[in-house]
Amino acid sequence: DWNMPDYIAEAVAKIKAQVGSEEVILGLSGGVDSSVAAALIHRAIGDQLTCVFVDNGLLRLNEGAQVMETFAKNLHMKVIHVDASSEFMKHLAGVSDPEQKRKIIGREFVEVFQRESAKLKQAKWLAQGTIYPDVIESASAKTKKAHTIKSHHNVGGLPESMHLKLLEPLRELFKDEVRELGVALGLPADMVYRHPFPGPGLGVRILGEVKREYAELLRRADAIFIEELRNTRDADGKSWYDKTSQAFTVFLPVKSVGVMGDGRTYEWVVSLRAVQTQDFMTAHWAHLPYELLGKVSNRIINEVRGINRVVYDISGKPPATIEWE
Ligand code: XMP
Repeated sequence: DWNMPDYIAEAVAKIKAQVGSEEVILGLSGGVDSSVAAALIHRAIGDQLTCVFVDNGLLRLNEGAQVMETFAKNLHMKVIHVDASSEFMKHLAGVSDPEQKRKIIGREFVEVFQRESAKLKQAKWLAQGTIYPDVIESASAKTKKAHTIKSHHNVGGLPESMHLKLLEPLRELFKDEVRELGVALGLPADMVYRHPFPGPGLGVRILGEVKREYAELLRRADAIFIEELRNTRDADGKSWYDKTSQAFTVFLPVKSVGVMGDGRTYEWVVSLRAVQTQDFMTAHWAHLPYELLGKVSNRIINEVRGINRVVYDISGKPPATIEWE
């Protein structure tokens, strides 16, 4: 058990002592860890911190606006919002292999981030939201040469190549502690208790080649699914969003036939995916109520022109993985 005000005071003092009057940059992803790291460091050193938020065109609906609202508007932090979506799309054109896509997205991120941070000439520190499980994982990966099914090194090589000192104030914390800290620092609870979102974002939820048009359809369909999960409660009063560990929509680049009025449609298919898991190593598909699934399907097909079929993924992990790529 820990005393939150004492913990924050100590962590703030430690960051101040480390950084002194130097400048810090941090890549804000909208995820829990980088968000909490940013809020904590800002509490310690205020405007000596500059955050860089890279929009890669593969984020969820309104995510960029939400990040700016939370950090720039409400918490008064310096945030540089970079719209790099065209650059990402250009490099992803014609690429359909999942690992290749991950590599390109990771590499592009490093490039954009470095370019933006080079403009902040005084920066001496790179802050990262590394948490204790990441420290363990990378240590064991080094010794065991872990068998990797999917490469998760989203920002690999960033600190080394930038010649900056590393600031990692969350290195000793577990995920639930990071969340508690985030709430105590004034971050919105629904941001801090969000499902995990992979670094490559919608890039691995659009099967095969990524196109802006697909990303736009997927964003709208997924927002409907998430909204209904948040708004539908089970008998125990918990929302289905909180009852699932991860839920999202996958864009399938196949067309199927449908009817609308007197006409025939020939449009895209999406799959809903919702899982329950403790550790994300194994997972069960969530037994969502039929009424909920039916409502989501109706809404997507009625509201998102271009999608005329919705399916539900009932595969467990293993043998399937949580993401489709
Ligand atoms: P899988 O699909 O391997 O996913 O069952 C397990 C967990 O890892 C997440 N995931 C990723 N996270 N970069 C990430 O940061 C990635 O490339 C990546 N691939 C999968 C996935 O969302 C799930 O939580």
